[in-house]
Amino acid sequence: MAEQVRLGIVGTGSISLRGLLPHLTMADVQDRVRITAVCDPVLDRAQAAAAKFGVPAAYATMEEMLAAGNLDAVSIASPIGLHYEQGVIAVEHGLHIHFNKSMTTTVDEADDLIARAQAKGVKLVSSPGELIHPRLQRIKQLVAEGALGRLTWAVTGSAFGRYHEQEDSVRAGSDPLTNINPAWYFRRPGGGPLYDMTVYGLHALTAVLGPAKRVTGFSGVRVHEREFHGEMLPTDMDDQTLMVLDFGDALFAFVYGVAAGGLPNLGRPTIFGTQGVVNGATLNGRPIEYPGREWVDQYGYAAALPHVVGAHRGMEEAHVYEDVMQLVDWVRDDTPTVATADPARHVIEIFDAAYRSAATGQAQELRTTF
Ligand SMILES: NC(=O)c1ccc[n+]([C@@H]2O[C@H](COP(=O)([O-])OP(=O)(O)OC[C@H]3O[C@@H](n4cnc5c(N)ncnc54)[C@H](O)[C@@H]3O)[C@@H](O)[C@H]2O)c1
Repeated sequence: MAEQVRLGIVGTGSISLRGLLPHLTMADVQDRVRITAVCDPVLDRAQAAAAKFGVPAAYATMEEMLAAGNLDAVSIASPIGLHYEQGVIAVEHGLHIHFNKSMTTTVDEADDLIARAQAKGVKLVSSPGELIHPRLQRIKQLVAEGALGRLTWAVTGSAFGRYHEQEDSVRAGSDPLTNINPAWYFRRPGGGPLYDMTVYGLHALTAVLGPAKRVTGFSGVRVHEREFHGEMLPTDMDDQTLMVLDFGDALFAFVYGVAAGGLPNLGRPTIFGTQGVVNGATLNGRPIEYPGREWVDQYGYAAALPHVVGAHRGMEEAHVYEDVMQLVDWVRDDTPTVATADPARHVIEIFDAAYRSAATGQAQELRTTF
């Protein structure tokens, strides 16, 4: 049994303050993982986060944090447009990486990162690890056993709404831990609802249906600026993308990431077949049974995840904690995980291809699989 994994956190914004730091500094995980450093260009924020959660070191840059050593792995929790270049830096330092979704913004970046990680012998875990969830595993099994008959089509997607402008616990205050500006969510590269939100449903959908073969899409900017505490934030990244996925043999899916107004069940695809429908938590209207369902009923979806036990069940963003613990187990004990970079690369390729399709008017063939 290896020692604790020494973890550095890159970016001390919303997901770090509400998810990574609260979960990973709890007493019950200190035998497996220790947060040894954090970094954020808003140094006051990094220092305040370190003080609040008892992390020994805080830096303004990732380079300073890595130069100080004392790390086995990092969790990258910066704006998505930075994930690829920060991932490359971490790999070159021989560090294992957990990526908060999404890992990169293009399939070429994902290919490059995966190749570099293999060459260096470092492990990559990419959120969201949807297939870890016992309900999705059960849905996959039911579909494989023919519970829906012959699959016909599926739909999933998400809407930005005003979610990021209204994360008030970290954005509505005046000190460094509560005044975090979400402007990057609406800017290139890395902004838009696909990489941040639609990514959940598409991970789940491809986990059940398998890899897609072709994509066609429409995409553009609909809401050109958003009001955030009196400031107008410009949108230059597409906030409306609709796409059709071809899984072969006339099996299709409709996937969307839009500025506002979504179908129900964020991240929970609806899958139709000749003999029925899986809609979120139900098969043909009846609840799907799976291990841990009683915890989901009590605390919400993430409470059935394997590491989400005890007090973790009632805490925010437990699915992100689960994904980090998948990496921790993989590093310490070589315990395999399904939350690897390969399914994440395929989802990124679908988004990348949808944008290319929208720009060219041509359907795009996909080349990755998992
Ligand atoms: N907010 C959520 O609900 C949520 C939930 C799950 C996952 N995530 C994911 O977490 C990641 C971060 O999102 P967030 O909402 O925490 O963003 P955020 O805007 O709240 O915080 C981002 C932080 O990164 C810092 N930063 C900027 N440049 C940096 C750099 N070069 N190096 C290190 N840090 C840098 C910013 O100063 C800020 O503190 C994204 O990948 C997002 O998709 C967010």
